[in-house]
Amino acid sequence: MEPRNLLFSPSILGGNFSRAAAELGEIASSGADYVHLDVMDGSFVPEITFGRKFIGDLRPLSDLVFDVHLMVNRPEDKVRAFADAGAGIITVHAESTDHIVRVLSLIKELGCECGIALNPGTSVNFIEAALPFADYITVMTVNPGWGGQKFIPECLKKIEALDYLRRTEGYRYLIEADGGVSLDTIGPLYKAGMDIAITGSAFFRESDKAQFLDRMREKAEEWL
Ligand code: DX5
Ligand code: ZN
Repeated sequence: MEPRNLLFSPSILGGNFSRAAAELGEIASSGADYVHLDVMDGSFVPEITFGRKFIGDLRPLSDLVFDVHLMVNRPEDKVRAFADAGAGIITVHAESTDHIVRVLSLIKELGCECGIALNPGTSVNFIEAALPFADYITVMTVNPGWGGQKFIPECLKKIEALDYLRRTEGYRYLIEADGGVSLDTIGPLYKAGMDIAITGSAFFRESDKAQFLDRMREKAEEWL
Protein backbone atom coordinates (compact mmCIF):
# COMPACT_ATOMS: atom_id res chain seq x y z
CA MET A 1 0.00 0.00 0.00
CA GLU A 2 1.21 3.56 -0.78
CA PRO A 3 2.13 5.46 2.41
CA ARG A 4 -0.40 8.19 3.24
CA ASN A 5 0.65 11.59 4.48
CA LEU A 6 1.28 11.46 8.24
CA LEU A 7 1.19 14.77 10.11
CA PHE A 8 2.32 15.66 13.64
CA SER A 9 0.82 17.98 16.24
CA PRO A 10 3.06 17.97 19.33
CA SER A 11 1.29 19.08 22.50
CA ILE A 12 2.80 21.88 24.53
CA LEU A 13 1.23 20.19 27.60
CA GLY A 14 4.06 17.64 27.41
CA GLY A 15 6.62 20.43 27.92
CA ASN A 16 7.40 22.83 30.75
CA PHE A 17 5.11 25.88 30.80
CA SER A 18 7.85 28.09 32.30
CA ARG A 19 9.74 27.51 29.03
CA ALA A 20 6.72 27.68 26.73
CA ALA A 21 8.32 29.95 24.12
CA ALA A 22 11.38 27.69 23.87
CA GLU A 23 9.18 24.58 23.72
CA LEU A 24 7.21 26.14 20.88
CA GLY A 25 10.50 26.80 19.07
CA GLU A 26 11.48 23.15 19.52
CA ILE A 27 8.15 22.01 18.09
CA ALA A 28 8.66 24.26 15.04
CA SER A 29 12.25 23.13 14.43
CA SER A 30 11.31 19.44 14.73
CA GLY A 31 9.44 19.70 11.42
CA ALA A 32 6.02 19.26 13.05
CA ASP A 33 2.95 20.39 11.11
CA TYR A 34 0.91 21.93 13.94
CA VAL A 35 1.24 22.81 17.61
CA HIS A 36 -1.43 21.28 19.86
CA LEU A 37 -2.72 23.46 22.71
CA ASP A 38 -4.80 21.75 25.42
CA VAL A 39 -7.26 24.08 27.14
CA MET A 40 -8.79 22.57 30.31
CA ASP A 41 -11.38 24.39 32.39
CA GLY A 42 -11.50 22.43 35.67
CA SER A 43 -15.13 21.54 34.92
CA PHE A 44 -15.35 19.43 31.76
CA VAL A 45 -12.08 17.86 32.98
CA PRO A 46 -10.65 18.25 36.51
CA GLU A 47 -7.45 20.08 35.56
CA ILE A 48 -7.01 23.72 34.58
CA THR A 49 -4.27 24.56 32.07
CA PHE A 50 -4.36 27.91 30.27
CA GLY A 51 -6.63 30.20 28.33
CA ARG A 52 -6.64 32.74 25.56
CA LYS A 53 -3.90 35.00 26.96
CA PHE A 54 -1.31 32.22 26.99
CA ILE A 55 -2.24 31.28 23.41
CA GLY A 56 -2.30 34.90 22.25
CA ASP A 57 1.12 35.54 23.80
CA LEU A 58 2.62 32.52 22.00
CA ARG A 59 0.93 33.30 18.66
CA PRO A 60 3.51 35.77 17.25
CA LEU A 61 6.41 33.44 18.07
CA SER A 62 5.64 30.80 15.40
CA ASP A 63 4.17 30.32 11.94
CA LEU A 64 2.78 26.89 12.82
CA VAL A 65 -0.97 26.37 12.78
CA PHE A 66 -2.32 26.44 16.36
CA ASP A 67 -4.45 23.33 16.89
CA VAL A 68 -6.52 24.28 19.94
CA HIS A 69 -8.22 21.42 21.82
CA LEU A 70 -10.95 22.81 24.05
CA MET A 71 -11.74 20.55 27.01
CA VAL A 72 -14.33 23.01 28.34
CA ASN A 73 -18.04 23.07 29.03
CA ARG A 74 -20.23 25.35 26.92
CA PRO A 75 -17.63 25.81 24.17
CA GLU A 76 -20.18 27.90 22.23
CA ASP A 77 -19.49 30.73 24.70
CA LYS A 78 -15.70 30.47 24.38
CA VAL A 79 -14.69 29.78 20.79
CA ARG A 80 -14.62 33.45 19.81
CA ALA A 81 -11.93 34.21 22.40
CA PHE A 82 -9.71 31.43 21.04
CA ALA A 83 -10.25 32.46 17.42
CA ASP A 84 -9.23 36.00 18.41
CA ALA A 85 -6.16 34.63 20.19
CA GLY A 86 -4.95 33.10 16.91
CA ALA A 87 -6.23 29.52 16.77
CA GLY A 88 -6.12 27.96 13.29
CA ILE A 89 -8.12 24.90 14.29
CA ILE A 90 -10.59 24.76 17.18
CA THR A 91 -11.71 21.33 18.35
CA VAL A 92 -14.59 20.94 20.79
CA HIS A 93 -15.80 17.83 22.58
CA ALA A 94 -19.01 16.17 21.39
CA GLU A 95 -19.84 15.61 25.08
CA SER A 96 -19.40 19.26 26.05
CA THR A 97 -22.33 20.80 24.18
CA ASP A 98 -25.89 20.03 23.06
CA HIS A 99 -25.29 22.09 19.92
CA ILE A 100 -22.28 20.59 18.18
CA VAL A 101 -23.25 21.63 14.64
CA ARG A 102 -23.97 25.19 15.76
CA VAL A 103 -20.54 25.40 17.45
CA LEU A 104 -18.81 24.01 14.34
CA SER A 105 -20.56 26.62 12.16
CA LEU A 106 -19.58 29.37 14.57
CA ILE A 107 -15.93 28.26 14.47
CA LYS A 108 -16.00 28.40 10.66
CA GLU A 109 -17.64 31.85 10.71
CA LEU A 110 -14.78 32.99 12.93
CA GLY A 111 -12.35 31.98 10.18
CA CYS A 112 -10.97 28.78 11.77
CA GLU A 113 -11.13 25.12 10.85
CA CYS A 114 -13.31 23.04 13.15
CA GLY A 115 -12.97 19.70 14.86
CA ILE A 116 -14.95 17.32 17.07
CA ALA A 117 -13.22 15.33 19.84
CA LEU A 118 -14.61 12.05 21.19
CA ASN A 119 -13.95 10.70 24.67
CA PRO A 120 -13.04 7.00 24.87
CA GLY A 121 -16.59 6.18 26.02
CA THR A 122 -18.35 8.07 23.20
CA SER A 123 -19.14 6.13 20.05
CA VAL A 124 -18.79 7.36 16.47
CA ASN A 125 -22.57 6.92 16.03
CA PHE A 126 -23.13 9.75 18.50
CA ILE A 127 -21.65 12.28 16.03
CA GLU A 128 -22.58 10.61 12.76
CA ALA A 129 -24.98 13.39 11.76
CA ALA A 130 -22.30 16.03 12.44
CA LEU A 131 -19.53 14.36 10.40
CA PRO A 132 -20.22 16.31 7.16
CA PHE A 133 -19.59 19.57 9.04
CA ALA A 134 -16.19 18.73 10.54
CA ASP A 135 -12.69 19.38 9.19
CA TYR A 136 -11.09 17.17 11.88
CA ILE A 137 -12.20 14.38 14.19
CA THR A 138 -10.02 13.81 17.25
CA VAL A 139 -10.27 10.33 18.71
CA MET A 140 -9.15 10.50 22.33
CA THR A 141 -6.99 7.46 22.99
CA VAL A 142 -6.83 8.31 26.72
CA ASN A 143 -9.43 9.91 28.98
CA PRO A 144 -8.94 13.65 28.52
CA GLY A 145 -7.45 15.71 31.33
CA TRP A 146 -3.81 14.70 31.72
CA GLY A 147 -0.72 14.03 29.66
CA GLY A 148 1.40 10.93 30.12
CA GLN A 149 -1.40 8.35 30.38
CA LYS A 150 -1.56 4.86 28.94
CA PHE A 151 -2.97 4.39 25.44
CA ILE A 152 -6.42 2.70 25.31
CA PRO A 153 -6.26 0.24 22.36
CA GLU A 154 -10.05 -0.23 22.21
CA CYS A 155 -10.24 3.27 20.65
CA LEU A 156 -8.55 2.04 17.45
CA LYS A 157 -11.89 0.62 16.25
CA LYS A 158 -13.34 4.13 16.17
CA ILE A 159 -10.51 5.34 13.93
CA GLU A 160 -11.21 2.46 11.57
CA ALA A 161 -14.92 3.30 11.57
CA LEU A 162 -14.23 6.99 10.87
CA ASP A 163 -11.85 6.10 8.04
CA TYR A 164 -14.43 3.75 6.55
CA LEU A 165 -17.21 6.35 6.81
CA ARG A 166 -15.21 9.07 5.09
CA ARG A 167 -14.35 6.75 2.22
CA THR A 168 -17.88 5.49 1.75
CA GLU A 169 -19.70 8.80 2.40
CA GLY A 170 -17.12 11.17 0.86
CA TYR A 171 -16.49 13.18 4.05
CA ARG A 172 -13.40 15.38 4.11
CA TYR A 173 -12.28 15.33 7.75
CA LEU A 174 -8.78 14.36 8.84
CA ILE A 175 -8.50 11.97 11.79
CA GLU A 176 -6.38 12.93 14.79
CA ALA A 177 -5.42 10.61 17.66
CA ASP A 178 -4.74 12.15 21.06
CA GLY A 179 -3.23 10.43 24.09
CA GLY A 180 -0.44 7.91 24.59
CA VAL A 181 0.82 8.30 21.02
CA SER A 182 4.40 6.99 20.92
CA LEU A 183 6.73 4.69 18.98
CA ASP A 184 4.80 1.76 20.49
CA THR A 185 1.36 2.90 19.32
CA ILE A 186 1.92 4.90 16.11
CA GLY A 187 1.87 1.77 13.91
CA PRO A 188 -1.62 0.53 14.77
CA LEU A 189 -2.95 4.11 14.77
CA TYR A 190 -1.64 4.80 11.28
CA LYS A 191 -2.88 1.46 10.02
CA ALA A 192 -6.34 2.21 11.42
CA GLY A 193 -6.53 5.47 9.45
CA MET A 194 -5.08 8.24 11.64
CA ASP A 195 -3.73 11.23 9.69
CA ILE A 196 -2.46 13.45 12.52
CA ALA A 197 -0.57 12.22 15.56
CA ILE A 198 -0.85 14.40 18.66
CA THR A 199 2.07 13.64 20.93
CA GLY A 200 2.95 15.18 24.28
CA SER A 201 5.10 13.24 26.73
CA ALA A 202 6.71 10.94 24.12
CA PHE A 203 7.79 13.99 22.08
CA PHE A 204 9.19 16.00 24.98
CA ARG A 205 11.06 12.99 26.41
CA GLU A 206 13.30 13.01 23.34
CA SER A 207 16.31 15.27 23.00
CA ASP A 208 16.43 15.04 19.18
CA LYS A 209 12.84 15.80 18.28
CA ALA A 210 13.30 15.90 14.49
CA GLN A 211 14.84 12.46 14.62
CA PHE A 212 11.96 11.29 16.83
CA LEU A 213 9.40 12.35 14.21
CA ASP A 214 11.42 10.55 11.50
CA ARG A 215 11.42 7.39 13.62
CA MET A 216 7.68 7.74 14.22
CA ARG A 217 7.12 8.00 10.47
CA GLU A 218 9.30 4.96 9.75
CA LYS A 219 7.57 2.95 12.44
CA ALA A 220 4.14 3.90 11.07
CA GLU A 221 5.05 2.85 7.53
CA GLU A 222 6.21 -0.56 8.77
CA TRP A 223 2.55 -1.26 9.59
CA LEU A 224 1.20 -0.70 6.10
C1 DX5 B 1 -4.94 15.00 27.18
C2 DX5 B 1 -4.56 15.96 26.09
C3 DX5 B 1 -3.44 15.52 25.24
C4 DX5 B 1 -2.11 15.34 25.93
C5 DX5 B 1 -1.46 14.14 25.32
O1 DX5 B 1 -6.16 15.35 27.73
O2 DX5 B 1 -5.66 16.22 25.24
O3 DX5 B 1 -3.28 16.36 24.11
O4 DX5 B 1 -1.24 16.42 25.80
O5 DX5 B 1 -0.34 13.82 26.06
P1 DX5 B 1 0.39 12.42 25.93
O6 DX5 B 1 0.96 12.35 24.53
O7 DX5 B 1 1.45 12.50 26.98
O8 DX5 B 1 -0.61 11.35 26.17
ZN1 ZN C 1 -5.28 17.32 23.37
